[in-house]
Order: sequence, then C-alpha cells, then structure tokens
Amino acid sequence: MDMKKMAGEAALQFVRDGMRIGLGTGSTVYWTIIKLGERVQQGLNIQAIATSAKTEKLAANLGIPMLQTSQIDELDLAIDGADEIAPGFQLIKGGGGALLREKMVASIARRFIVAADESKLVDRLGAFPLPVEVVAFGWELTRNAIRKLGCDPILRTGSNGAFKTDNANLILDCRFQEILNPAQLNADLNSIPGVVENGLFIGMADTVIIGHKDGKVEIMQS
Ligand code: 5RP
Repeated sequence: MDMKKMAGEAALQFVRDGMRIGLGTGSTVYWTIIKLGERVQQGLNIQAIATSAKTEKLAANLGIPMLQTSQIDELDLAIDGADEIAPGFQLIKGGGGALLREKMVASIARRFIVAADESKLVDRLGAFPLPVEVVAFGWELTRNAIRKLGCDPILRTGSNGAFKTDNANLILDCRFQEILNPAQLNADLNSIPGVVENGLFIGMADTVIIGHKDGKVEIMQS
C-alpha cells in the first residue's frame, strides 16, 4: 500500500467543479495532482495555482489550467503535504523547500487540506528540522540570531552547493528537538531580520487526511 498515494488521491473528494485550488509540493500531493489531471481530462472545470516551479510544470503538463497570483485573491481549497503533524493540526512543512509559497497559498484558501502518510503524525513538533527560508545576504548573521532561539541551524545544500529556493533564498534547517510553543516560535523567527518565512503552519489546516499502512484512509476535521 502506498500510503502517500492513498492520502493524496483521497483529497480529490473535496474538489468541486468551478473551484480555484492551491496545489502544494512534494511526493504526497504529487498523487493529488496526477488524479486532478485525469479528472480535468475527463471534463472537470477547475483552475489551480502552484506552490513551486516543480508543481507548476507537473500540473501544466497534465493540462490543468493554471492561474497566476495577479488573478486571485482567494482560493476555494489548498491541498498540500506536511513533514510533521501534531495535535491541533500544528504542522511543520518545507521539507521540499517550498514553504514560503505554500504558506502564502494556504493563507488565502477557505479550506486548507493536508494529506500525509501516518509516519508524519507526532505528539509534539520538533524532531523534524524546521526549515527557515532566509535571504542570502548576511545569512550567517540570521543563522546566529536563530541559534539563540535554541537550535543549531544547518544550511541546506544541494548538488551544486547551497540549496536555492524558487525565490532565490536559502534554507536553514533548524532542529529544535521539541517545540513547546509553536505559535511563539513562529512569531519569534519571523521577527528576525533576514528571515523570510518559516515552516511552522499553526492554526491553518482545516482537514487532515492520513494514509495508514493497513490501507485505511482517515479524515480528520478541525
Ligand atoms: C514541501 C513540503 C511538503 O509538503 C512536505 O515536505 C511533505 O512532503 P512529502 O509529501 O514528499 O512527504 O512542505 O515544501
């Protein structure tokens, strides 16, 4: 059983004709996009906005009509994955480096749906290193300021040196071990000059869809 596929495809039950939909990034929402492409080919009329260049390319290649930010101010739905999901639908996102666009898109959606496999469920956020997007200028200064919040930020690297986001910024992966007050940490991180956004999504998700290894799909509403 592919738990990510089950969860990603289950998100389609919330899609209705005429909707404007935010499409997340990652290997779970990949399955949502593939299924959505099939439905569009069968006549479903939706429009979508992507949270990354990768998603934009995938969706456009499947014939999904794509929107630009200048054409929207709200969305009916946003569908995305997550790296950790704690009680109260507190999330860590950004494992794929798309957290800024993902947060912007989720913030204008009337309903934000998160799809994930059961391994993403945790009692408390923080074992997964929290991705923080920072501007390249003076990133060492930003890292030093983040370190004072109680973690050891690691600059994310790719095959050609430092990983660059779609916004030409850098990612610092910050392992806090345990995040006792996610809302406060979200505010503290975003008040540091040089921080663009962080991967804490607090009070944003409305629906969580979990694929379990026994083949069951669980749907939780806030
Ligand atoms: C990308 C994300 C992803 O949603 C998150 O990393 C989960 O990815 P996957 O579905 O591949 O496990 O936040 O920035």
